[in-house]
Amino acid sequence: MTPDLKVTIAGVEFANPIMTASGCCGYGEELAQIFPLSRLGALVTKSITRHPRLGHPPPRTAETASGMLNAIGLANVGIDAFLADKIPFLTKQKTRIIVNVAGSKLTEYVEICARLNECERVDMIELNISCPNVDEGGMEFGSDPMMTEKSVAAVRKVFSRPVIAKLSPNVTSIAQIALAAEQGGADAVSIINSLVGTSVDIETWRPKLTNNKGGLTGPAIKPVALAMVEAVHASRCRLPIIGVGGIADYRDVVEFMLCGATAVQVGTSLFVDPSGPVKMVKGLSAYLKKKKLGAASDLIGKVRKYGT
Ligand SMILES: Cc1cc2nc3c(=O)[nH]c(=O)nc-3n(C[C@H](O)[C@H](O)[C@H](O)COP(=O)(O)O)c2cc1C
Repeated sequence: MTPDLKVTIAGVEFANPIMTASGCCGYGEELAQIFPLSRLGALVTKSITRHPRLGHPPPRTAETASGMLNAIGLANVGIDAFLADKIPFLTKQKTRIIVNVAGSKLTEYVEICARLNECERVDMIELNISCPNVDEGGMEFGSDPMMTEKSVAAVRKVFSRPVIAKLSPNVTSIAQIALAAEQGGADAVSIINSLVGTSVDIETWRPKLTNNKGGLTGPAIKPVALAMVEAVHASRCRLPIIGVGGIADYRDVVEFMLCGATAVQVGTSLFVDPSGPVKMVKGLSAYLKKKKLGAASDLIGKVRKYGT
């Protein structure tokens, strides 16, 4: 029997648990030339802001051991162009659409989400309250529990479909922030955004990024992301978790689901192999068959921890 790959988050059904991560495939147009987006559980867009942003000047990415640093600075087309030029393409795709939203003021988040609420094709929004690469806003909303609760609650009032809060790993207790998001009315959390990092050119003595620091992503951060997913799953927070960080093949997907993730997002590894998500779906299905499991959801939170 073919295993059932479907998962449900906040009443919304996804064909499989594999999503793209924000910022790693723009608005999906290029990825759709590699494989039909219907093969994904969901496409998550680049963060959308009130006004268009060019982002930081190059160099804004640098390779690291088992990962990469980026300080793109939220380069995006802005909400007007997103609704006019990108939504028509996304509307035609047979996959769930999650729009990631960022802002430097709470009023910006609210305005963007109110406009996205008018667009029925947007299944969920993901609030980027955790970006380490902008001067204003960015992590500020997601590193303080009170600000997290306030931001989610404000957006909750204007967006009638599910809201995901994307959490930062650059905090003392991610479980505390997840609880604050739950109290604000979030329907799910995605864990994690990038870890703050830097790298220096020893010939010029200059940082390798013009922003001086950036966000570390890729396989290097997978153990951190897994531990944070597990910590939130083990906490009082009852929200479904979307695991993100260093996922490069189906084995990583299985690990995240065992630690408590209902679904996962794939980011940096898309730059290495853009068709990776399709291979992950196949690999996950074969793994479930081998383990004689009927459904992907049978994996969620089933890690057999020592001492329990
Ligand atoms: C080049 C690049 C751009 C990113 N842009 C965004 C963004 O606009 N909004 C956001 O919430 N996360 C952004 N992220 C973070 C990813 O969505 C993801 O949380 C992070 O990269 C960890 O996953 P990974 O290790 O699979 O890449 C970006 C990551 C990269 C590498």
